[in-house]
Amino acid sequence: MATNKLLSLLLLIIVSIITTSSVVSQPSITPSFRRAPRFPGKFSHNHNFKQQYRYETRYFSQRLDHFSFSSDLPSFPQRYLINTEHWVGPSRLGPIFLYCGNEGDIEWFAANTGFVWEIAPKFGAMVLFPEHRYYGESMPYGSREEAYKNGTTLSFLTAEQALADFAVLITDLKRNFSAEACPVVLFGGSYGGMLASWMRLKYPHIAIGALASSAPILQFEDIVPPETFYNIVSNSFRRESTTCFNTIKESWDVLNSEGQKHNGLQQLTKTFRLCRELRSAEDLANWLDSAYSFLAMVNYPYPSEFLMPLPGHPIREVCRKIDDSPDGGGILERIFKGVSVYYNYTGNVDCFQLDDDPHGMNGWNWQACTEMIMPMSSSHDTSMFPTYDFNYSSYQDDCWKAFRVMPMPRWITTEFGGHDIKTILKMFGSNIIFSNGLLDPWSGGSVLQNISDSIVALVTEEGAHHVDLRAALPGDPDWLIEQRTTETKLIDGWIQNYYLAKKTTFNI
Ligand SMILES: *[C@@H]1O[C@H](CO)[C@@H](O)[C@H](O)[C@H]1NC(C)=O
Ligand SMILES: *[C@@H]1O[C@H](CO)[C@@H](O)[C@H](O)[C@H]1NC(C)=O
Ligand SMILES: *[C@@H]1O[C@H](CO)[C@@H](O)[C@H](O)[C@H]1NC(C)=O
Ligand SMILES: *[C@@H]1O[C@H](CO)[C@@H](O)[C@H](O)[C@H]1NC(C)=O
Ligand SMILES: *[C@@H]1O[C@H](CO)[C@@H](O)[C@H](O)[C@H]1NC(C)=O
Repeated sequence: MATNKLLSLLLLIIVSIITTSSVVSQPSITPSFRRAPRFPGKFSHNHNFKQQYRYETRYFSQRLDHFSFSSDLPSFPQRYLINTEHWVGPSRLGPIFLYCGNEGDIEWFAANTGFVWEIAPKFGAMVLFPEHRYYGESMPYGSREEAYKNGTTLSFLTAEQALADFAVLITDLKRNFSAEACPVVLFGGSYGGMLASWMRLKYPHIAIGALASSAPILQFEDIVPPETFYNIVSNSFRRESTTCFNTIKESWDVLNSEGQKHNGLQQLTKTFRLCRELRSAEDLANWLDSAYSFLAMVNYPYPSEFLMPLPGHPIREVCRKIDDSPDGGGILERIFKGVSVYYNYTGNVDCFQLDDDPHGMNGWNWQACTEMIMPMSSSHDTSMFPTYDFNYSSYQDDCWKAFRVMPMPRWITTEFGGHDIKTILKMFGSNIIFSNGLLDPWSGGSVLQNISDSIVALVTEEGAHHVDLRAALPGDPDWLIEQRTTETKLIDGWIQNYYLAKKTTFNI
């Protein structure tokens, strides 16, 4: 008993020495893993979707590994949503619109991709939403628990396998419908947009074109500067209010010194009305960082419920709260009021859960630790975030700790390209639309220039994360209506060209 007490006392002393020394050498908040890329798919399981669009849900048996002949691997059911109501059928070469499912439940993406549902009838097109493996219901090994067990079971969660799933599924489905000659057009937003553009490049015989919305295919290696993402987030706040930007910028040091005070974490827990006692100021910083980054992505001009229920121009609202605080409000109280717009807009939240779970066994974290290495830094001069230089060794250490896996940071550009994309795609590619809104922090890693007559960049000043893929609304601004019209025309052009080419070959 006594030895035990002595031991724990000793441990306490050691721990406090370590903590103190790390505080001395690291005066500001520089959490390492928080710079992992953030895509919105993790929100897909929080929602009770009201199914607005009509579709049938089907399952298709897929090989777990498309790239080996190993016979001891199980197959798994891939879920897909299908609507053939408006399809004009194989005899008239009716088009097939395929949304490349990304990192979440496919029903959530279907509910948030109104554009595809709305244009399909005009094209007489079939609509397909296949789910990405390891997400939603498309789980290998029978359950999420088994699929996410360890690095071995997760090793089939890759973009290449997902694309092969789509290719196998569409080929099989076409055979079932005797629709081999029907043209397939790909759609995708965010990571799904990356998949759509990559699929067009890898499987040109399977899809005639792709609309890749907010697809940061250049956010790898050193193709774009690592500060890009957080600079754009920061600019979205600065353009609303400089004082808001400055308040957020100053808040990190205040947060950090508060956290180091005696009972400081307790006080922060109270100020931010957290459900459970804060373990480190870093966790809180992460939670705030997430809110600002996601706010920048969904900075839509109208109220939306894509990630969270939010007002239109949500950053404007956040800044109003931060700026308009009555006298005497400390900097952290003002920050709290601001982020409450994001986390508690409905007013239904009793206390806040920080469970962002950045180290958890979550599908996107696995992808970020294997292929999707998107270097992210934040600059002292141009961002409102704590200064951080992307550190590959510590990124790698985190991945090893979380999954016992070593990332392959150069694999994506080896497999899909990315360097000197203008020359390369001009030389061989065709029929891709890269659409982006400049308010979206992911736009910085996307293709923003026209590459050729048929590889086109549609860029809007006021757009946010794949806003063009969302359903049309009565209050849509003109630039958005125009963008969707251009997209529809380009897609129609691809289909007409395909029919023309088919006719020519028939005549030969
Ligand atoms: C991962 O889990 C599977 C299934 O339980 C097991 O067969 C395998 O040995 C585990 N691999 C590692 C590296 O732990
Ligand atoms: C095609 O038909 C076969 C036989 O009915 C079925 O097993 C398979 O799942 C179908 N393919 C798709 C993509 O639904
Ligand atoms: C959320 O908002 C409501 C209404 O303004 C408020 O009563 C509640 O205390 C807020 N929750 C938190 C955790 O701040
Ligand atoms: C990067 O991280 C590694 C491992 O965590 C650490 O040893 C190294 O000092 C860091 N480098 C810089 C420049 O901070
Ligand atoms: C690219 O070309 C299209 C016309 O095909 C045009 O509408 C668009 O504005 C151009 N994009 C850029 C970034 O210049």
